[in-house]
Amino acid sequence: MAENTTTMRQWTTLMDGINNLKLTTVPRPIDLKDDQVLVKISRVALNHRDAKIINGDFKDSYPTPSHPLVPTSDASGIIVQVSDSVADTGKWTKGDRVISLMRPTHLTGPTTAQHAASGIGIPENGVLTEYRVFSAEGLVGVPGYMSLDEACTLPTAATTAWMALNWDREIDRPRRGKAVVVLLLGTGGVSIAGLQQAKALGLTVIITSSSAAKLERARQLGADYTINYKTNPDWATEVLNITSGKGADIIFETGGPATMEHSIRCIAAGGNISAIGVLSGTTSNAESAGQAIALSLIRKNATLKGINVGPKDRIEEMIRTVYVERFEVRPVIDRVFGFEEAREALEYMYGGSHLGKVIMKVD
Ligand SMILES: NC(=O)c1ccc[n+]([C@@H]2O[C@H](COP(=O)([O-])OP(=O)(O)OC[C@H]3O[C@@H](n4cnc5c(N)ncnc54)[C@H](OP(=O)(O)O)[C@@H]3O)[C@@H](O)[C@H]2O)c1
Repeated sequence: MAENTTTMRQWTTLMDGINNLKLTTVPRPIDLKDDQVLVKISRVALNHRDAKIINGDFKDSYPTPSHPLVPTSDASGIIVQVSDSVADTGKWTKGDRVISLMRPTHLTGPTTAQHAASGIGIPENGVLTEYRVFSAEGLVGVPGYMSLDEACTLPTAATTAWMALNWDREIDRPRRGKAVVVLLLGTGGVSIAGLQQAKALGLTVIITSSSAAKLERARQLGADYTINYKTNPDWATEVLNITSGKGADIIFETGGPATMEHSIRCIAAGGNISAIGVLSGTTSNAESAGQAIALSLIRKNATLKGINVGPKDRIEEMIRTVYVERFEVRPVIDRVFGFEEAREALEYMYGGSHLGKVIMKVD
């Protein structure tokens, strides 16, 4: 079937639930402003956050868009048009393979409140669309060895993993290799990217999961130790046993209220807990839990670091350090859905039966 060159399809949401997502046809962008490029989206990777945004759970965290929102933030694609100013600089040319950035204006440095309230997928339109205009600086090139399927998983999950692993730029860590123990909670997109990155750097990995089959897969991906947190709710003790009482040096804290206390119990002295998510929900006893957390952190001189994705220069650093031809780390894709299957894909991802990333084929 000949491609219609004047229109394109895109999914929109009124943040009233995954079932109410709408597939619409709109004019394709033709006029580019200075420093803009047009990207034909190839693949989109889904994040936990996308489902929450669509379900209206983040309404208080971001300015409400005045229009139906194109959701999701992570895409790979091919540049099909560049503005004259971009052509003049030679920064991008037609045919370049690129990935999006969740926060295209966050180029370097810590995440400010302004960065945190900005971004694509909310409040700006996201990438669940066949074509999208990007600022030239809001894109990163895809490593040569990597497919567009794999590359779309990098912007949020892999970048968050990189920041959780290396937010302090502890350049000594790879040299200490196996002596550095990384604990990953669950086998979602962030944890599996963390597993791959930690193994590329030669670190020791302990990973937890509610599923024996997922733990087996994690072992195949290089995990040194696995713990089933369903059959062994006292997983923190198990971490201490594995590490001869020392604890984990870095913890990817994706669980939140129900896991934080356990994480604090098994963090090594001087270790880093990267607070990433709240998959276990919220606690009704926040005050006393918060108190316990603060005391334990002080006693252990540990760092509890809030992670909020990361700037462009850290994504480029991650690609240079880990996702390079030398390691050829291949991001783990659990399942690929078609563009028309947005509702099914989001429900599947939100259901949590996946390991690694759930992606959609757009082109
Ligand atoms: N701060 C940031 O910058 C940032 C960036 C990305 C993501 N996040 C957040 O980080 C979290 C993980 O994101 P993701 O994209 O990796 O999610 P995901 O792909 O949906 O992963 C979910 C997995 O986490 C595990 N899990 C669920 N409840 C758990 C619990 N109580 N204890 C331990 N593990 C549990 C499960 O693994 P098993 O099935 O193996 O048990 C589940 O499959 C989410 O809360 C997300 O919003 C934050």
